[in-house]
Amino acid sequence: MIDLRYCSDPKGIDLDEVDLMAPVPETEPNRQYYFMAKLKKWVTQKKEELGRSLFCCTQTFGCQMNARDSEKILGILSKIGYEETESEDADLVIFNTCTVRENANLKVYGRLGQLKKYKNKNPEMITMMCGCMMQEKDVVDKIKKSYRNVDVIFGTHNIFKFAELLATRVFDKSEKKKMLVDVWEDTTEIVEELPVERKYSFKSGVNIMFGCNNFCSYCIVPYVRGRERSREPEDIIAEIKCLVKDGVVEVMLLGQNVNSYGKNLENPISFAQLLEKVEKIEGLERIRFMTSHPKDLSDELIEVMGRSKKICKQLHLPLQSGSSRLLKIMNRHYTKEDYLTLVEKIRKAVPDIALTTDIIVGFPGETDEDFEETMEVVEKVGYDSAFTFIYSKRTGTPAASMENQVPEDVVKVRFDRLLNKVQEIAAEKAAKDVGKVVDVLVEEVNEHDSSLVTGRTSQNYTVHFPGGEELIGKIVPVKLSESKGFYYYGEQM
Ligand code: SAH
Ligand code: SF4
Ligand code: F3S
Repeated sequence: MIDLRYCSDPKGIDLDEVDLMAPVPETEPNRQYYFMAKLKKWVTQKKEELGRSLFCCTQTFGCQMNARDSEKILGILSKIGYEETESEDADLVIFNTCTVRENANLKVYGRLGQLKKYKNKNPEMITMMCGCMMQEKDVVDKIKKSYRNVDVIFGTHNIFKFAELLATRVFDKSEKKKMLVDVWEDTTEIVEELPVERKYSFKSGVNIMFGCNNFCSYCIVPYVRGRERSREPEDIIAEIKCLVKDGVVEVMLLGQNVNSYGKNLENPISFAQLLEKVEKIEGLERIRFMTSHPKDLSDELIEVMGRSKKICKQLHLPLQSGSSRLLKIMNRHYTKEDYLTLVEKIRKAVPDIALTTDIIVGFPGETDEDFEETMEVVEKVGYDSAFTFIYSKRTGTPAASMENQVPEDVVKVRFDRLLNKVQEIAAEKAAKDVGKVVDVLVEEVNEHDSSLVTGRTSQNYTVHFPGGEELIGKIVPVKLSESKGFYYYGEQM
């Protein structure tokens, strides 16, 4: 029996009951359950042979989409009997990669080199690579040439096939096993009802859509995640209900642009309408979502956020740049003025909302004036926090072939100025709430001081306060007594 505490297993199929003599099912997800059953038998045998457990390690790079994908992989691995470890000295190592900026790629190559020494020690070790980087042909070519220790490469579109891919590698009887590469260009398929494991018992990410159609001119995501496709609302609601039954009180609805959710479904439905359905799920206490594209954030959504009791008072609204001129070249479809008007509307509907953002510094052709406009918007909006990125050239995107790339030293000066401004404002913002009593969802015992627990407010601020592990997963009122800029100390009321 597997421990279902952190694991949603919607079909609840007992793998020992699967008939392995029958032909391999052609339809999903049954086909994958067949391979899981085959693998479970193999894992059990292997454990007996070795007299120990089989260990797997997943390393996840990138965004929440990738984090959720890794949970799907872990759901399958736990169902077939692997145990998870943080050490890369394991029987199965999976790198789930990101390619949004160049430094994300470099990190992966560094780690891949290190894996070779573990494989020398344990020749039966299996290494698998997946995620956004694998959607790029030159990356796969480089791995084929320089990292022969990799066993399986797959992409973002066929992650549901994980069990089948692992089985193909494990049951490959050839003497010199070839690297298995299975990367799809795109897909329209969404496979439901596979097991998924989650890190926390009380909160979970939930994909509502995949891919992106926006093609912001700097961004590689649409090329590696494919065209936008939404899950059916019934499937999303069923998944959340299942999670709630399993102890989840907070969900984060995930998509590259959640505001365009549902447009291409056979029975179209808006994101705001989906939120209203999710809101009705009994036992669910908190709803978050990301990411919102400013061009698609509707009045209907603002209204729903204003009256909702469950939607958290936090909105991530990527700005990218404060210059309307650059926003146009970035293909963002809003101006500085549109953005500021939107912020005003949102603050009117939800006065105590925490706003966060993403900003790129050094986009091709960014002038001092453009940058000053970004600084101005940052000051005007007063973000609770902001992720700031140095522009990274991504091969194949329109921005990569633009002339007038900004010199590195200029970018560095701008970046430091922006970061200082962002941090200064964030510290002021946080100090304002000292003395208030707010609801905190307790997430864990503090790793540095076990007399404290750590949780999050609706606005997504971290709070540390005295308490024990019995509070984990509970929402409790806490008085914020001291602000440390990015987090608070408090006392339970
Ligand atoms: N879909 C989301 C974000 C996806 S990527 C959205 O539209 O906001 C997360 C962030 O990475 C982006 O918001 C952007 O700020 C940053 N980013 C994307 N491509 C980049 C690049 N080439 N260089 C630097 N930052 C980039
Ligand atoms: Fe990239 Fe733009 Fe799509 Fe976000 S909306 S993933 S920044 S192309
Ligand atoms: Fe990275 Fe892919 Fe997410 S490129 S940011 S992991 S969608």
